[in-house]
Amino acid sequence: MADLSVLCAGVPLRNPFLLASGVWGESGDSLAGAWAAGAGGVITKSIGAVPRPGYPNPTIETYERWGMLNAMGLPNPGIDEYPREIEIARRAGVTVIGSVFAGEAAEFARLAGRMAATGVAALELNLSCPHAEGFGTEVGSTPEDVERIVRAVVAAVKIPVIAKITPNTSDPAALAVAAERGGAAAVSAINTLRALAIDVRLRRPVLSHGLGGLSGSAIKPVGLACVWQIYDKVSIPVIGVGGIMTAADALEYVMAGARALEVGTAVTFEGVGVFGRLVGDLASLLDELGYGRLEDAVGAAHPAR
Ligand SMILES: Cc1cc2nc3c(=O)[nH]c(=O)nc-3n(C[C@H](O)[C@H](O)[C@H](O)COP(=O)(O)O)c2cc1C
Repeated sequence: MADLSVLCAGVPLRNPFLLASGVWGESGDSLAGAWAAGAGGVITKSIGAVPRPGYPNPTIETYERWGMLNAMGLPNPGIDEYPREIEIARRAGVTVIGSVFAGEAAEFARLAGRMAATGVAALELNLSCPHAEGFGTEVGSTPEDVERIVRAVVAAVKIPVIAKITPNTSDPAALAVAAERGGAAAVSAINTLRALAIDVRLRRPVLSHGLGGLSGSAIKPVGLACVWQIYDKVSIPVIGVGGIMTAADALEYVMAGARALEVGTAVTFEGVGVFGRLVGDLASLLDELGYGRLEDAVGAAHPAR
């Protein structure tokens, strides 16, 4: 059987499939459930400085075949409450990556320090949520902002820092380059694409917030293009995310340049059992293609450098 273990951002992963931030509850038990089902690691819901209730319903619209639209509004219990959930997951032996969001660099750095103190293996900075005023894309869509925030966080913690970047900009690869300049250990791409659904009978947007973020199969080609372009421009590892539903999707991302992967909407649709399926199918697919190790396939679709 092909070896699926990878080293990404200095974090050893038993396989490349990470639970993506925000898609499977936020409790320690739900993180541990994803791990028990076979995930290579888990990323927490993005946690902020204070509790947030998120937006009123409706916050999700589901499309049967190709994904979903969400505007949750970053609901989370806040950094004072959340460490106890991480403790539950860590006691279960889970490799946990802590996701944080903030409105500016100093707040990011403070929050990152608190998150790092919980014992997480790495941090992921949410620089990319497309629907939360004052956060996410609003603070992470220029290279200058990304570099400043990453640099401040890297100076504040001793664990690897992963910058999760947005596709909602003309040059996502420039954001990845800025993250690397700021000292990021890896970059994850992509977060959801800004999108909209309208209820024609009610004559208004379906989601209470109006605009939301699109995820699932529909965004896979966009995510792949971002990973492809980023791989060419940075030397830190790239984590691919967006529409991974099958082992073939996963291997496309790996061949585009991803060293690890995040799985979101597929977990929402199928439950955490998706991890066991993806691990088994990817190992079989690599065997079929003659790869002994997943790492040998990273970037394989790029012309030889
Ligand atoms: C309901 C929902 C909540 C999400 N919450 C977060 C979040 O808190 N932080 C974050 O960085 N990304 C969040 N995301 C984005 C996902 O982590 C992922 O980047 C995106 O859904 C694309 O992957 P997918 O197509 O596999 O779902 C969320 C996505 C969904 C669908």
